[in-house]
Amino acid sequence: MSNFDKIPSLEEAKIMLNEAQKLSPTPWVEHSLNVAEAAKLIAEQIPGMDSKKSYILGLLHDIGRRAGRFGMRHAVDGYNYLVSKGYEDAARICITHVSFEYNNKKVVVGKWDDFKEAKAYALNYLTKIEYTDYDNLIKLCDSLSLPEGFCLIEKRLIDMALRGGVDDYSIPRWKSTFEIKRYFESKMGKSIYDILPGVVENTF
Ligand SMILES: [Fe+2]
Repeated sequence: MSNFDKIPSLEEAKIMLNEAQKLSPTPWVEHSLNVAEAAKLIAEQIPGMDSKKSYILGLLHDIGRRAGRFGMRHAVDGYNYLVSKGYEDAARICITHVSFEYNNKKVVVGKWDDFKEAKAYALNYLTKIEYTDYDNLIKLCDSLSLPEGFCLIEKRLIDMALRGGVDDYSIPRWKSTFEIKRYFESKMGKSIYDILPGVVENTF
């Protein structure tokens, strides 16, 4: 397994995010800051996980949105952007966070519209990797981070479904998200909601 060494420093990651925000000033940046914070808080509770790296990976998981509103293509845009800077381990998160394993096969979620080549690229990339705890941690945190803060996973999933619609993968993906939640909670010995501030305020 990769040691997740090919990632930028925190300072560099913040510079990249600031630059991206100027290019594409939408709430994805606030969402990314919350994903980073949640990843850090959860990783701190888990022996063997690096909370600083987790924070950086959270900051950059949606960095492909710097290119503008291109839907799911942001996964491959972010991957290519970070690989071009030599940060393969941060790059992988851009692709893995929009995917999950279903019937022993990795699938990508969402609407890819005209970006068939990007979708094929992502699917091919996924055949070559195994998910790590870092991939799963960012997926989990992506599922509970609104731009305003942390919320109940169920709320965020419905929010995404209302905006983007549902398809045959929606329920299996939700199940996979809850599976990942259980996995980390069993490692932590407590609920993720015990350590994430503001969930009640942001959910109700
Ligand atoms: Fe995200």
